[in-house]
Amino acid sequence: MSAVTMLHQYKTTIEDGDLVVVYINPESMLTITMKKGSVLNNKFGSFPHDKMIGLKYGSMATSLNGRGFVYLLHPTPELWTQVVPHRTQILYLPDISFISLYLDLKPGKIVIESGTGSGSFSHSIARSIAPTGHLYTFEYHELRAETARKEFIDHNLTEIVTIEHRDVLANGFGKVGIADAVFLDLPAPWDAVASAKEALRRDTIGRVCSFSPCIEQVQRTALALDEHGFADIRMYECLVRDYEVRTLPLPDIEEAIGGQKVNFKLNKNDRKKRKLESGAASLAGQSGTSSEVMLSKPADQARGHTSYLTFAILAPEVTSE
Ligand SMILES: C[S@@+](CC[C@H](N)C(=O)[O-])C[C@H]1O[C@@H](n2cnc3c(N)ncnc32)[C@H](O)[C@@H]1O
Repeated sequence: MSAVTMLHQYKTTIEDGDLVVVYINPESMLTITMKKGSVLNNKFGSFPHDKMIGLKYGSMATSLNGRGFVYLLHPTPELWTQVVPHRTQILYLPDISFISLYLDLKPGKIVIESGTGSGSFSHSIARSIAPTGHLYTFEYHELRAETARKEFIDHNLTEIVTIEHRDVLANGFGKVGIADAVFLDLPAPWDAVASAKEALRRDTIGRVCSFSPCIEQVQRTALALDEHGFADIRMYECLVRDYEVRTLPLPDIEEAIGGQKVNFKLNKNDRKKRKLESGAASLAGQSGTSSEVMLSKPADQARGHTSYLTFAILAPEVTSE
């Protein structure tokens, strides 16, 4: 049996014991661990694991009755964030990507994170810093810490992630001068700033990010960062606009100008121009019939505020030499 790693070692074939993300539709995904003799049942039918073992990741699996199908995807941090069982509020992809960039997460980096929460961000950090970096993540809720520990084991992340059950506001991180970056997702992040400073390396730039939903938390954290000698203190909010593809009827030109009979024909060039214009607003150009057009438009419900991201850097210590 070989468990899938969610990092850099992608594999092609699904084996017994592997974790698989089952994609049913864009709103419905789940994870299963392959086990000989087990069956996945859903409203589309029954999918025996034995028929999935041996398939390539990315394959379609058909239900026993031949009417339903699902896709079997390789787990990745971004898919994990979409399927992770929520024990807490979690970080989503827009914030994850922005923070990873600003904290300069890359292979070999040492990162400190607290709280671990549901481990959504931890998985992305782990992939960014693998194979030579390390994530020390701290969680004071015992059950959450244990659940995350089990997931890190199941996902083959133990060489890259160490989780500790610890109250970092009361006891600090217990790390001195080792971290390239510290990420705080805590109710009172300002109380962790002194400990974050102690944990950061002093021979190079240290980076910190605090993720807080309220502006008052940002104010207190920024003040604490300033008091402890951090520089370049900035706050961002990351908002994303989703687009969806829709097929809509094209307005009838006669109706649009008040029911008058329009007696003109588009010549070849006009028709081409009109097609190009509608194509500029569409992903796939015109659909099958001439009275419909396929458009990409912003989703009706734009995602709102998640949290403010406060960043700061700690300059390297200048030695007399
Ligand atoms: C919002 S969750 C973190 C979610 C996480 N960023 C994710 O993406 O899944 C905040 C976590 O911080 C933990 N926490 C709160 N105070 C803490 C403290 N003093 N020390 C360690 N963890 C703490 C909470 O138990 C909670 O699980």
